Amino acid sequence: MAKTALITGVTGQDGSYLSEFLLAKGYEVHGIIRRSSVDYRERIAHLEGTPHFHLHYADMSDSMSLVKLVGKVMPDEIYNLAAQSHVQVSFDAPEFTADVDAVGVLRVLEAVRTNHLEKTCKIYQASTSELYGKVEEVPQSETTPFHPYSPYAVAKLYGYWIIKEYREAYDMFCCSGILFNHESERRGETFVTRKITLAAARIAQGKQKCLYLGNLDSLRDWGYAKDYVECMWLILQHKTPEDFVIATGVQHSVREFATLAFHHAGIELRWEGQGIEEKGIVENLTPTLSSREGVKVGDVVVAVSPDFYRPTDVVNLLGDPSKAKRELGWNPQTTSFEQLVELMVTHDMKKVAADDAAAEVRKVNLAEFLEKGIDK
Ligand code: NAP
Ligand code: GDD
Repeated sequence: MAKTALITGVTGQDGSYLSEFLLAKGYEVHGIIRRSSVDYRERIAHLEGTPHFHLHYADMSDSMSLVKLVGKVMPDEIYNLAAQSHVQVSFDAPEFTADVDAVGVLRVLEAVRTNHLEKTCKIYQASTSELYGKVEEVPQSETTPFHPYSPYAVAKLYGYWIIKEYREAYDMFCCSGILFNHESERRGETFVTRKITLAAARIAQGKQKCLYLGNLDSLRDWGYAKDYVECMWLILQHKTPEDFVIATGVQHSVREFATLAFHHAGIELRWEGQGIEEKGIVENLTPTLSSREGVKVGDVVVAVSPDFYRPTDVVNLLGDPSKAKRELGWNPQTTSFEQLVELMVTHDMKKVAADDAAAEVRKVNLAEFLEKGIDK
């Protein structure tokens, strides 16, 4: 019989890829959506109306909605992906972040227990490399001590421990995937990678002058989201409930990401200055771009703005995926960093070209909006 999965955070980057993955495996997929004044579900629009995909209103801050929904769906597997997932926003909205990202996990666990499903329903918790925060060793593995370094990470640490507690106290099959950063053409537009790929595309098409970033030295282990959702499923198919680090084992800086993204958009950058004074300057353009108006050799197209510095920043994430490789048979190198950047830029070059026509109709100058450095 087909298995039934319930996904919280189905409208997010990971939720959309996981839905596709589980539908392809023959699952009955149920997702939680929340009421919004603009009912725009871009990432899952292509799935809506397909026979085995169902959406329900509920909210991570509303216990009763979760209890009722779990009772109605009776899932074999729950993937708890819903979260206020932006680290910088968690400094502005710490209480909301704690409610959804910490207590929300407890609400899911209790919804399962209230419906007496604790022996049949497996739970995946979307945990994060942000738990390592002010890192105590490099690379980070399942045994590295945690040192959360933002309200987001502190909330996620509660989620990690309450999953472990319910596993031991009630013998539940619940696990955390400690996922390092994973990106895609569906990544939210205010995370640094997507902010860069969109800006590189806009600048190359003469629609934006400059991209403002924060800490260019920050190091991340960036993978491809589509590869990572497979691990969420593999973790729940493992013989015993365990936590796993999911990462590529390769590290790059924000500056390196930007250099490569602009390269794929046809702009070669050189970097000058240090800290707040650092700038990315156009060194060379591909022949097709040099003939365009807008960007030219010598232009400053990347600058640093203190607006994007965080009160405390996590600057050295590098994961050790050995356990996932060994025990789940997962290949962390399916999509390389170079392929990831290229596929994101290729997507955004097309998107920006298409957006411009729509923007003209709506009289919205997205470029100016982005240039002002509104990041959230
Ligand atoms: P995302 O794109 O920001 O999606 C977050 C999802 O959570 C959205 O569907 C959002 O719904 C939903 N959500 C937020 N608050 C909610 C609430 N109160 N009730 C119900 N749903 C709510 O995040 P993502 O990148 O897919 O990440 C998925 C999960 O993995 C998150 O828990 C994140 O913290 C974690 N994680 C992500 C990464 C990464 O690099 N992407 C790495 C490690 C861990 P709306 O669409 O309505 O806002
Ligand atoms: N967002 C953003 N915007 N980040 C910037 C910028 C900027 O303009 N400039 C530099 N950065 C730096 C941040 O300071 C951070 O060190 C790094 O780029 C990555 O930032 P984000 O892309 O916002 O991601 P994150 O690492 O903070 O959080 C993401 O990954 C976590 C896993 O480690 C999110 O997806 C979290 O939900 C996830 O848990």
